[in-house]
Amino acid sequence: MAAITITPLSPCVGAEIGNIDLREPLSQDEVSTLKGALGKYCVLFFRDQPIDLAAHRRFAQYFGELHIHVGGEGTASKPDPNYPEARVQHFDRNSKRVSGEVWHTDQSCAAIPPMASILHQTIIPPDGGGDTLFASMYAAYDALSDRMKAFLTGLTATHDGNKLFDKGTKTVYPISSHPVIAVHPWTGKKLLYVNRGQTTHLNDIPREESDAILGFLFQHIENPEWQMRFHWREHSIAFWDNRCAQHRAIWDYWPNVRSGVRVQIKGTQPPIPA
Ligand code: SIN
Repeated sequence: MAAITITPLSPCVGAEIGNIDLREPLSQDEVSTLKGALGKYCVLFFRDQPIDLAAHRRFAQYFGELHIHVGGEGTASKPDPNYPEARVQHFDRNSKRVSGEVWHTDQSCAAIPPMASILHQTIIPPDGGGDTLFASMYAAYDALSDRMKAFLTGLTATHDGNKLFDKGTKTVYPISSHPVIAVHPWTGKKLLYVNRGQTTHLNDIPREESDAILGFLFQHIENPEWQMRFHWREHSIAFWDNRCAQHRAIWDYWPNVRSGVRVQIKGTQPPIPA
């Protein structure tokens, strides 16, 4: 088979991978190429990959161990009965909500958040809709003024699962502190690591200051200049790096069905302070 291809889909974030069949095992060279592309583009997309769960899990395991979602009972996705690390994201006319409708990076409330997530869609709404937005946190950091970068460097923020996940369940959600400016362990690049979904406050500064600064940062992160919008087709896959990308699912397809399965890869260390 010819070498895999990498086609950037926007100036800041996202690339489509071609010449690859994820139903088959990958070579070490292919895995290294994908790792390099993931750190650089933050999200990789694959088209026409009718994988089963075994191939999905095998693909994820090239990059690390599989991660179990810390959201327990409080999430819109549900664990696969046989493989709790695989989450079924099935939404239809009976759904009260869907996964990921607010800008976030997955489970930043965990002490060691999942390194990456791999979502395979099997049913796409027939009238369109159900796209996912992705944003580069490298670009969001780079666009800050030098004074703001200097102010934020060294600060930490609290990330609380109670902000995002359902109230009133038996699950105890994690609460963790992470650096506001972090460094990607593979690329060494700096990035902004707060998100609207789970970050509640900046630590060690008055709450009024924290609210104002976080409000600005959330708005800044959501600037379309460092976003892209992915339009799913049946058997598309998105593989995003939770260390440098944020994402947001769009629920504009009710009462139609959108269905997929997501597997996550364990992080190996907490976010690294810049
Ligand atoms: C998520 O995993 O946060 C949802 C992504 C999506 O369904 O597009």
